[in-house]
Amino acid sequence: MLIDGHGRKVDYLRVSVTERCNFRCQYCMPEKPFSWVPREELLTYEELFEFIKVAIDKGINKVRVTGGEPLLREGLENFIRMISEYKEGLDLALTTNGYLLPKVAQKLADAGLKRINISLDSLKEEVAAKIAQKNVLKTVLKGIEAARVAGLKIKINCVPLKGINESEIIDLLEFCKERGYEIRFIEYMENDYASKYAKGLDSVEIQNIIKEKYTFKKLERCGTSPSQEYELEDGYKFGIIEPHKDDFCSTCNRIRLTASGVLIPCLYYEDAQSIKEAIKAKDIKKAVEILKDVLKNKPEKNRWTENSEISARAFYETGG
Ligand code: GTP
Ligand code: 5AD
Ligand code: SF4
Repeated sequence: MLIDGHGRKVDYLRVSVTERCNFRCQYCMPEKPFSWVPREELLTYEELFEFIKVAIDKGINKVRVTGGEPLLREGLENFIRMISEYKEGLDLALTTNGYLLPKVAQKLADAGLKRINISLDSLKEEVAAKIAQKNVLKTVLKGIEAARVAGLKIKINCVPLKGINESEIIDLLEFCKERGYEIRFIEYMENDYASKYAKGLDSVEIQNIIKEKYTFKKLERCGTSPSQEYELEDGYKFGIIEPHKDDFCSTCNRIRLTASGVLIPCLYYEDAQSIKEAIKAKDIKKAVEILKDVLKNKPEKNRWTENSEISARAFYETGG
């Protein structure tokens, strides 16, 4: 079992396979030109898998593959297959913007993927295009449909932004409710990289909008998800991810591995360490030592809970 320095059980590993993305979401990507980490600095799938095996053997039972946009990295289905075949019963999931799903959803399901979280911020073409800075909606909707046809369990992620998509909260909720997808509204996490024009809605503001039409209750926080669940009277459940809440981090159970082999204990630069050399040298003992050290130094709280000026890593680098 993996326990961090604050006594929390860590059983969830988020693995980013690339920081590249085919969208430029306002809340995620820098406005200024920037360059990607060169491909040769990334770990191969085999190397990432070496670390994942170590982590699973030590107690990780939930692995989420993220990006950037993970489907931009070629052969992702082979990587998914490697992980899914390693341990039966592992909760293996993918987070994607959905754009490339029409072509690969079935391949991913065939490789053993069961769950997928897809971003959908708007049901209006021009609004979706404004947020992603690209004309994306039709293709993303086709991608969501392809995931459904492939039998994947779908969650939808939406970041409500003031004056941009806040008027669509009910429409998005109903879109998901009608189709049996769980929607999670995510509080915008301020960072030094994303557009300074993006202003998010907080959980109370989101709830107040939903309250205009629906009655719902808050459920006990349970399971391994960062999302706080709410239930409508008809039993439909939606979530809100509330990183500004004081107790958000008390249930934190996760660590992150970037595509270039940096093990990150929280969404910050603090105390991240590289496992790249250990993995390349096949030094498993060293990799375990680094993992334990990173866990020991995992911060108790993220800095959004303190509402302070922060300099978190850009989300596309860490996989959110
Ligand atoms: P489920 O297991 O399906 O609930 O997935 P998930 O919510 O863990 O994964 P997803 O990739 O869909 O993440 C949803 C949102 O939660 C993203 O915006 C993440 O950045 C955010 N999130 C996940 N973990 C953390 C965390 O430890 N801290 C903060 N601040 N945000 C997080
Ligand atoms: N704040 C909140 N959520 C964000 N995401 C990306 N950047 C931010 C941010 N600054 C979300 C995306 C995606 C998930 C992985 O992270 O919408 O659904
Ligand atoms: Fe790409 Fe996801 Fe960031 Fe949007 S939020 S730019 S889809 S990595």
